[in-house]
Amino acid sequence: MLCLRRGKRAKRRSELSLMRIGVLASGRGSNLQALIEAWKLGELNGELVAVGSDHEEALALKRAEEAGIPHGAFPLSRFSSRQEQEKAILTWLREQKVEILVLAGFMRVLSKEFLQDIQIPVLNIHPSLLPSFQGLHAQRQALDYGVKISGCTVHFVDEGLDSGPIIAQEAVPVLPGDTEDSLSARILEAEHRLYPEAVGWVAGGRIKRNGRIVVKL
Ligand code: GRF
Repeated sequence: MLCLRRGKRAKRRSELSLMRIGVLASGRGSNLQALIEAWKLGELNGELVAVGSDHEEALALKRAEEAGIPHGAFPLSRFSSRQEQEKAILTWLREQKVEILVLAGFMRVLSKEFLQDIQIPVLNIHPSLLPSFQGLHAQRQALDYGVKISGCTVHFVDEGLDSGPIIAQEAVPVLPGDTEDSLSARILEAEHRLYPEAVGWVAGGRIKRNGRIVVKL
């Protein structure tokens, strides 16, 4: 059993120093912003110490800059392969001494090698109630399927696509006349509530994980 709850000694350490959280984001970074706001309110049980992106122009990097968080761009065009790109990201996250990695709209599937090498918890948020509607355009998939409830899921990242152990979920209704945009906006509001809360549980050592089963302590 992998227990992420830290012992007494680690608890004392957490009172002195907060968990160092890194974020990877490809785009607008609204979830990053929600994390920044929670951090500034002291609600994250951790500090945001690094924001990386695979897009130089990502709004997420501007948000990091404004919040005073060290940030870095790792566009594929600067590297000879995806493997080299991932290596550079990993090296940088290690230099920043990141202890938890949070994916917030990071549009690359991280390789098995990256996930094995990083050796820290990696979290993601997905805009559906997993295991339904994995992959891209989850909100459109939900509408096309005709479900009446959708939502978002925070999960640990494993080698599959949106398939890792589930940490937390929040449901939202699918309303008659919903479009992809209106449903996405409703789900996004839930994401902004749920992600900081779930990251805070992990950073605060309040999560016990036994295989697929994740329990909040
Ligand atoms: C969110 O819908 C998230 O669930 C998905 O990518 C989107 C990122 O949005 N993984 P933002 O960049 O955080 O605004």
